[in-house]
Amino acid sequence: MLCLGWIFLWFVTGERIKGFNISGCSIKNFLWMYSAESAEEFVLFCDLAEPQKPRSYHRHPLSPAQGPARRPCRGREGLSDAQWYLQPREGGALKEITSNQSHLLLDKTALRFLTAERSHAGSYICRPRMRSRRDEACCVKMVLEVQPQADLSCAHPVPRTRYLRLGSTDSIHCPSLGCQGGARSPEMTWYQNGRLLSAQRSNPLQLDVIYDYHQGTYACDYTQADGAGSRTVRAVVQVKTIVRNTTLKPDILEPVKDTLEVELGKPLTLNCTARFGFEEHFKPVLRWYSKDSGRELEIPTKEGRRVKATVEAEVIQRTVHLERVAQSDLHKTFICFAQNSLGNSTQPLQLRGRKGASPVVFLYVLLGTVAALAGALAAGALLFTYWIEVVLLCRTCQDKDETLGDKKEFDAFISYAKGSASESEPASPMSEDCLALKLFPEVLENKYGYTLCLLERDVAPGGVYTEDIVSIIKKSRRGVFILSPNYVNGPSVFELQAAVSLALDDQTLKLILVKFCPFQEPESLPDLVRKALRVLPTVTWRGLKSAPPNSRFWTRLRYHMPMKNPTGLPWGHLRVISRAFWEDSKTETPGRSSQPRHW
Ligand SMILES: *[C@@H]1O[C@H](CO)[C@@H](O)[C@H](O)[C@H]1NC(C)=O
Ligand SMILES: *[C@@H]1O[C@H](CO)[C@@H](O)[C@H](O)[C@H]1NC(C)=O
Ligand SMILES: *[C@@H]1O[C@H](CO)[C@@H](O)[C@H](O)[C@H]1NC(C)=O
Ligand SMILES: *[C@@H]1O[C@H](CO)[C@@H](O)[C@H](O)[C@H]1NC(C)=O
Ligand SMILES: *[C@@H]1O[C@H](CO)[C@@H](O)[C@H](O)[C@H]1NC(C)=O
Repeated sequence: MLCLGWIFLWFVTGERIKGFNISGCSIKNFLWMYSAESAEEFVLFCDLAEPQKPRSYHRHPLSPAQGPARRPCRGREGLSDAQWYLQPREGGALKEITSNQSHLLLDKTALRFLTAERSHAGSYICRPRMRSRRDEACCVKMVLEVQPQADLSCAHPVPRTRYLRLGSTDSIHCPSLGCQGGARSPEMTWYQNGRLLSAQRSNPLQLDVIYDYHQGTYACDYTQADGAGSRTVRAVVQVKTIVRNTTLKPDILEPVKDTLEVELGKPLTLNCTARFGFEEHFKPVLRWYSKDSGRELEIPTKEGRRVKATVEAEVIQRTVHLERVAQSDLHKTFICFAQNSLGNSTQPLQLRGRKGASPVVFLYVLLGTVAALAGALAAGALLFTYWIEVVLLCRTCQDKDETLGDKKEFDAFISYAKGSASESEPASPMSEDCLALKLFPEVLENKYGYTLCLLERDVAPGGVYTEDIVSIIKKSRRGVFILSPNYVNGPSVFELQAAVSLALDDQTLKLILVKFCPFQEPESLPDLVRKALRVLPTVTWRGLKSAPPNSRFWTRLRYHMPMKNPTGLPWGHLRVISRAFWEDSKTETPGRSSQPRHW
């Protein structure tokens, strides 16, 4: 609504601005005597009230009678906003001052000059922004003269900025009078933040007890009259209420701890926040340093910013921003440094990589998976290697006996090359004969309780060899054939041939090959035998290593032997099995798929 009103007014006044006739404005003259040494401000108030004329009860007899009685314009207090114009010195149209400039601020009903320069001299005109009909002619033209202050030859020039300690009693001198404690002082008009202090007309301005509301921008006026007329000499004093100078070094509020957990690769903002107690000559220093292998360097950052300000203290913060935390940042020490006139305070900060971050978790998961896989593979390999032992172990736990009710006499018939030891390998203590006639009975019969059939031992001589063989094989559950060059080239190979033929008809007869030593298959070998050599399960004899009853050779052999009621105690087998686990497991795997199993 207000906005619309403004727009309306702009339209209404916009056309009239050219016709703004300033010749009817009241005129006031100002003198700004600025000090060349210190920064200084100046202010013009839009005070439309007629200047106070010397009190006279004798009116001119002609003046009041003519024209309508002109009602007085509003004073500054009655005005909410003003329009300002500058009349160029070289003449020409009025220029409205519509926006803040670097040296000039439009502050409601005041025009504030921020720097002292002679070029600021000129005629400044103001009038109410919202005008009623009766305000139409109200305007004031302020003619400003700007002069540098003449050299003051006094001991205490008046400061342009005054610090008044809270709770104390103090006074404010008007700077336009030059020296403090001048003997003669004219009548003064004082303003605080544009408000007239009507009760105060003396210089210096006396303040009994200083409160914080005394802080502000003060202006003091006195009238100087000479032959050309009168003008107002005005000066501005900045008053700040303060407390006692601090007696403490700055207090670092942040960082609190000397270590900070961070995530590598992530951006990071480090704050150095310090509380500086009040000082009249306040020169706070706040910086970030980094210390790397003994060298200390300042980290370039943006200037510190004021986070909080009270009369007693200021809190200033300076931040260092890392785009991403690098590994090298973990080796540095970051140092927050704060200093005032009393000394310095520091707070070191060390960054520490956060543990359990996602890449690490991922690594753990990966390792876990790999370990599980490796475990499964190892278990698979173990099971594969020790399959036989596992099966045997299971057999000992079951008490199914394959041998019951099949009307067979022998568990195994042992076939080998007879009389080979004396001919080819007389020096070998471990001959085929020895294996067949000594070790087989010793281990399989005595230790594991199988019943073997050895032609020499169990068959009465005198029968027809071939008939005897066939009948023995028929009465056996297994045929064990000890293969060697002597065997495949000698007459005993007939036993294998016969057994293979019989096994084709007899499901309960199974054949096991024992490779005693390497051999070449002779041309004369029957086709049936040739095929059988390829598919029948084979156990390799490895000389002396295979001799002990708990060797892998016997374990494998037993795997192919018929399942019988355990004769010994189960832990006897367990011991065998556990031994086997630690033995060399490079033996060949048996062709266990070649024969159907029935257990
Ligand atoms: C301005 O007003 C005065 C009377 O107050 C008049 O004499 C003068 O001619 C006016 N000037 C213009 C440009 O209207
Ligand atoms: C000029 O600056 C003063 C003080 O900073 C502010 O109050 C005022 O609104 C500004 N005026 C304009 C027109 O920007
Ligand atoms: C504060 O210290 C400054 C010097 O830094 C000194 O000039 C001033 O008088 C002191 N003010 C008070 C109130 O002690
Ligand atoms: C630093 O301060 C900012 C806000 O001022 C905050 O967002 C950030 O988390 C702070 N950093 C630390 C490390 O505390
Ligand atoms: C900080 O203060 C210590 C004494 O407390 C001083 O030795 C050191 O030089 C100061 N550092 C700086 C940079 O001023």
